[in-house]
Amino acid sequence: MVDSTTTTRNVRDLPLVPRNPLPILRLIQAVRTLDTGQEVIRAAGGSVTRVSFGPSWLVPSLVSVMSPDAIRDVLGRNDALAERCIVHDEVRHLAGDSLFVLPNEPWRPRKRALAPVFTKVNVRKYSGHMSRAAQAFADQWRDGGDVDLDAACRTVTMRSLGRSVLGIDLNDSAAAIAEHMHVASGYTADRALRPLRAPRWLPTPARRRARAAVAAMLEVTAGILTACRADQGIDAPLVHALIGATDPETGKPLSDSDICNDLLIFMLAGHDTTATALTYALWALGHHPEVQDRVAAEAAALGDRELTAEDVAHLGYTTQVLREGLRLCPPAAGVGRLALRDIEVDGYRVKKGTLIAVGIYALHRDPQLWPDPTAFDPDRFTPERMRARERWQFLPFAGGARSCIGEHFAMLETTLALATIVRAIRLRSRDDEFPVDVPFTTVARGPITAHVEAR
Ligand code: HEM
Repeated sequence: MVDSTTTTRNVRDLPLVPRNPLPILRLIQAVRTLDTGQEVIRAAGGSVTRVSFGPSWLVPSLVSVMSPDAIRDVLGRNDALAERCIVHDEVRHLAGDSLFVLPNEPWRPRKRALAPVFTKVNVRKYSGHMSRAAQAFADQWRDGGDVDLDAACRTVTMRSLGRSVLGIDLNDSAAAIAEHMHVASGYTADRALRPLRAPRWLPTPARRRARAAVAAMLEVTAGILTACRADQGIDAPLVHALIGATDPETGKPLSDSDICNDLLIFMLAGHDTTATALTYALWALGHHPEVQDRVAAEAAALGDRELTAEDVAHLGYTTQVLREGLRLCPPAAGVGRLALRDIEVDGYRVKKGTLIAVGIYALHRDPQLWPDPTAFDPDRFTPERMRARERWQFLPFAGGARSCIGEHFAMLETTLALATIVRAIRLRSRDDEFPVDVPFTTVARGPITAHVEAR
């Protein structure tokens, strides 16, 4: 671990991160394949490796970090050293300011205003919405048949998110929102990962489509805000927290457009991710009947009633299954940062201005850290084995100051949903593989078909 007192002068004495030896075309392809590309980069250059696409005055270097120590050096340190990067800049440019994209300085007060909505204690209030959304899925499939887990889980998570923090049922607009999200996020990630980018003012067809998608989603968020302003009684904690937040410099409330931008980001960050986590866990259970029966028995032991946040303490094995799913299929395959000055990463020097790509997917599948890494084995996450493990080895929600604000929400929602669904129905996955697209976050390339029947 780097000593935070390490001076810039000391860092200058360190060797630069070694350059990755892959030919440039292979590198470009690997960098743009956000999940499995990480393993290609590591196989050729190790867990801390520098990717250069040309002279640094033309194309800034990218350093890929995929080991626990190196990731801790990037994410776990003073945020004066690492900042939002080109990925966040692209999102900011397209969709305005929000918690996700704000630079560290203006981000702090916004985080303070919104954090109470998502504390471990406060998210417990939403458990009724979460369990009922999952129960609706279970009830719908009690008679059995072939279900598309991808579509069904999106419905569950969209309903949970909408009802618990936004005060509406988003499902009427779910399909449209999902489509718009993918267009907009795919565009930003695609731009961010090009070694050379067209200028932003150029009205390319892709840009026009992305702007139209954002405009359509902002219409939905504007509708939410208008409804909450008109009726203070609407139970929409996130919207009310944003209405109550103030700008630290002016003391004024956030503008309506700032609030709408934030709501949009929460819809984006809080929906696809949990849908992927739940879909993957159900798909994996559909291939491991003995694990599935254990989850079902754990949930059934709680009785045939709506599950609550208090029940989570008795759903330890269900939680292990989810964690193993998040290891194998992390919905955020990686995160990016910009080095604000020369910094030390795992004994190497990373130059100021470098884009640092933190490879969560590769970290979670590193054979040196996880024996038989591709095998689905929830026992990796028993409490004892978790305690014995280095904290920076498992990072589905990233780590450090800017880790996921929705972690407790997501874990509660997916645990209650998995237990509720598997208690009611038995699943058999039809597909051997779990195909994904990674436009930005990792999403199932549906349909993911499972045969289901009542238990
Ligand atoms: C399994 C589900 C989820 C996963 C795996 C996940 C993962 C992550 C990761 C890795 C980050 C860090 C991104 C970065 O540094 O660039 C992040 C940030 C964020 N997530 Fe999540 N997330 C999940 C669910 C949620 C939910 C349910 C919400 C909200 C309801 C949410 C809202 C956010 C927001 C707003 C940020 C930006 C936080 C900040 O910069 O302060 N996420 N998430």
